Parts: sequence; C-alpha cells; structure tokens
Amino acid sequence: SPKKKLRIAVIPGDGIGQEVMPEGVACMKAACKRFNIDIEFDESFNDWATCDRYLKEGSMLPDNWKSVLSQYDAIYFGAVGDPEKVPDHISLWGSLIQFRREFDQYISLRPCRLLPGIECPLANKKIGDIDFWVVRENTEGEYSSVGGKMFPGTDREFVIQDTIMTRTGVDRVLKYAFELAQSRPKKHLTSATKSNGISISMPYWDERVKAMAEGYGDVKVDKFHIDILCAFFVLRPEMFDVVVGSNLFGDILSDLGPACTGSIGVAPSGNINPTGLFPSLFEPVHGSAPDIAGKGIANPIGMIWAGQMMLEHFGCKDAADKVMQAIEEALGKGGPEVITRDLGGKGDCKGLGKHILELIETL
Ligand code: NAI
Ligand code: MG
Repeated sequence: SPKKKLRIAVIPGDGIGQEVMPEGVACMKAACKRFNIDIEFDESFNDWATCDRYLKEGSMLPDNWKSVLSQYDAIYFGAVGDPEKVPDHISLWGSLIQFRREFDQYISLRPCRLLPGIECPLANKKIGDIDFWVVRENTEGEYSSVGGKMFPGTDREFVIQDTIMTRTGVDRVLKYAFELAQSRPKKHLTSATKSNGISISMPYWDERVKAMAEGYGDVKVDKFHIDILCAFFVLRPEMFDVVVGSNLFGDILSDLGPACTGSIGVAPSGNINPTGLFPSLFEPVHGSAPDIAGKGIANPIGMIWAGQMMLEHFGCKDAADKVMQAIEEALGKGGPEVITRDLGGKGDCKGLGKHILELIETL
C-alpha cells in the first residue's frame, strides 16, 4: 500500500453517473476502512463535466481545471453526456477527452473476465475460462491529427491521415503491458499487429515488441494479425492473458473483449498515466444512459469495479481483491431481489450498492 495519503477527485458527471457514483464511493470507503488505507474522496466536483454546468456557465469545466485536478492522485469518474441538452462532441471533448490528453493517460486498460450470474454470449464457457486484460495505446497511432484534405469537390479530391508511432509512445505502452504480463501467473503477452498489410508502421510495432521482449525473458510472447485475433477472441478466449494493441486495434479489442464476457454493462476501464506525473482516471465503460437516468435502476457494478481497478493501481491489493470478491459474490448469490434489471433481476442501484458494501465489510 502507498505510504502517503491518497487524494481522489470524485466527478460523477451526467445521468446515471450521479446515481452510481455514491455507491462506488461508499464501497471504496468501506474497503479502505477495512484495510487501513489512508484515502480521501473529494466530492466537491459535483457539477464538473455536466451538461447542466455547460448550459449555465458555457463550459464543461472551470478554466483552472488542470491545476486543480493535478493535485489529486486519481480521478474517479462517472459518465458524461446529455445529447438532448448539449451535443455529445461538445460535452465529451470539453471534459473526458481533455483529461485523457492533458494528463497524458497513455494506457487504456480493460479487464475481460467472465463473472458469475452473467450470461456469456459464447457457448459453454465457465468461470475462469475468460480472464485477460486488453492494454490499448491511448495517445497516438492511427488516431492522429496529421493529414489533410485537398482539392475538395473536384475530381482530384483526396484525404490523407497519417499514423504516428513514436519510439517513446510504442515502448511505453509495451513496457506497461510486459510488466502486467510478468505480474500474472500465466506471464503471457499477445501483440495485435497487421504487419502483412500495413507495411511500415506495423513492422515497426513488431520490431519494438521483439526488442522489449528481451528485457522480459520470463514472459511468453506471441503476435497475431488483428483480423484473426478478433476471431480468436470469440473462438478461443481461454488462450489470452494480456493483449496489447495500438490505438485503433486496442479500441476494437477493448470493446470486443468485454462483449465476449457479456459484461459490457458492468465493465470498468482505466485511463492510466503510469508515471504518476498526472492523475489517472477510472470509470465504468458505460455512458450516462439518459434512457434510465433518474429511475434509480442503473447497475452500479461498472462504477464499483472501476474503483476496484483504482485500488489495484495504487497497490492496495487486499482491498482490491476484497471488492472483486464482493462483486462476484453479489452477482453469483445475490438473487433476483438484489440484481438489477439489466441482468434480469428486480433490484435497484442503491440496493445492489448496499449489498456489495456489506459484503466488502463482512466477507
Ligand atoms: P450508454 O452506455 O449510456 O447506454 C447504452 C445502453 O445501456 C442504454 O440502454 C442504457 O440504459 C444501458 N446501460 C448503460 N449503463 C447501464 C447501467 N449501469 N445499468 C443499466 N443499464 C445501463 O451509451 P449511449 O446510450 O450510447 O450514450 C448515452 C450518453 O453517454 C451519450 O451522451 C454518450 O456520448 C455518453 N457516453 C459517455 C461515455 C463516458 O462518459 N465515458 C461512454 C459512452 C457514452
Ligand atoms: Mg471504443
């Protein structure tokens, strides 16, 4: 566990973000209390990254957001977006995307794990069969702003958008992925490539994987072209442990992976700056769900699991393991009175949150 006091900025945002966040914070406080983790949750950011703030103040965040949030160790984030009030590109680019960019959160991390009580869309899978991580490069690669358009509206019209792979950018995501693989029992890393078709940048990616592998002799490495890799996610998910990909390939795999476990609604995500120079951000994968917002029926597990990832990120392993155990226990044994409707139960957000909190305290 960390020696100094951890300070977390709590930003619930829009829609069900406001409903699931209190459950997430309560569960985190319970876990930290049980394991004597010195932590503070600053809940004074209630209107940050909300569309209501945008309508009132003309911006999703105050001008000094970066210097304010820089003083925290992590951001615990709910969701942003209310397309009836503010167009999505304004609300998203004015908040979440700013955090990711300005805080150089160059890792996007998502677990793909089969949980009890959730119907797996793949046939004949049992608990333990699917348990891997997708590590996505989150700052460069295919998502670059280098390029342009010329001769618009004429026969010569063309567009170019370049892929940017820097040695710094590629090596730092690979290093993170190799270290994650090294920390796991299987010690197996799979690289997503397409060096048969994309003949300059992807061979470079492969070359850097090979160079990085020399420093991690105990990690077993393989690589697959992205097309067959997607097929193997569906056909043989048991074979994966840590999967690393460029921004575009990682984007696809980090939706496909959780989807293969049926848990996209409860899945969490980390946007991580491993250097600690800036805060990392932990959030559920889901958005603000305007269709169910205000009804109190949102599933809080994505939010709670995101908090679990945050504890793990800080090295608080006992607390993180306990939260995961509580989530699995609730899903497996909570029953229809406790489980929320998205998973076929009759429970509500507060009830499921409270149930998990009590399991964190007593399991
Ligand atoms: P969404 O994830 O908000 O909702 C998709 C569907 O899943 C909806 O039917 C919703 O009711 C259901 N759902 C989502 N989370 C749930 C939960 N915890 N419990 C039960 N059901 C849940 O995605 P959608 O509808 O495409 O986007 C809505 C808004 O959220 C948009 O403004 C969008 O831009 C934003 N968004 C924000 C994200 C973020 O803050 N990271 C991520 C995705 C979307
Ligand atoms: Mg995506």
